[in-house]
Amino acid sequence: MPRLVPDSERQRAWEAKLRIVVGVTGASGAIYPLRLLPKLHRSGAEIHLILSRSGEKTLFLETGKKAADLKSFANYSWPVDDISAPLASGSFSTDGMIIAPCSVHTMSSIACGITSNLLTRAADVTLKERRRLILMIRESPLHLGHLRTMTLLAEMGAIVAPPVPGFYNQPTTIEELVDSSVDRVLDLIGLPDAQARRWNGPKRGEES
Ligand SMILES: Cc1cc2nc3c(=O)[nH]c(=O)nc-3n(C[C@H](O)[C@H](O)[C@H](O)COP(=O)(O)O)c2cc1C
Repeated sequence: MPRLVPDSERQRAWEAKLRIVVGVTGASGAIYPLRLLPKLHRSGAEIHLILSRSGEKTLFLETGKKAADLKSFANYSWPVDDISAPLASGSFSTDGMIIAPCSVHTMSSIACGITSNLLTRAADVTLKERRRLILMIRESPLHLGHLRTMTLLAEMGAIVAPPVPGFYNQPTTIEELVDSSVDRVLDLIGLPDAQARRWNGPKRGEES
């Protein structure tokens, strides 16, 4: 088990460091955590990573990368089956959780309170402790059950933030497209990226 920062040390670091849980599931979009984690890492946040088995598989299928590539940006990486990890308890304080990408399977488990692995348990804890839970749910098209589940999650206090890119900053690379969603999630968790591209209105001469 990785060494945890003692409470006294954490207290000293409190002002400077947010403690963020990042869940990665098997929905398409392994590039999202690959863009999100380095940005979170640069912010100085203490990152706790939970990668589902399908998340690991999808990561490899979509990018050729291994779990270790994601883990290298986390301070702590917890096995998805380790239900005795600190993140399974509300007494372990965190500043929120991001699931990127979030599968329909994990979304549905969270909505129903099915907490059979550490990832869904940590999400449930985040909700019950009234902390911020951001879900980058990826599926298309959506049937009525998906839409109703998202409504339920929003009613329960989760932030439903599907990775739908904005085109107003005229992205020219996949990374820029992905970052348009990742940067909004960083805003929502309270760690805005200073380099994020933002809409500041049309450039001079571009007004219609
Ligand atoms: C290449 C690939 C892409 C997938 N894309 C999606 C997706 O976009 N959304 C989704 O909900 N599930 C998707 N799945 C299915 C999930 O991986 C599957 O439902 C899995 O059980 C999710 O488990 P987890 O939530 O524990 O990670 C995909 C699977 C594969 C192999």
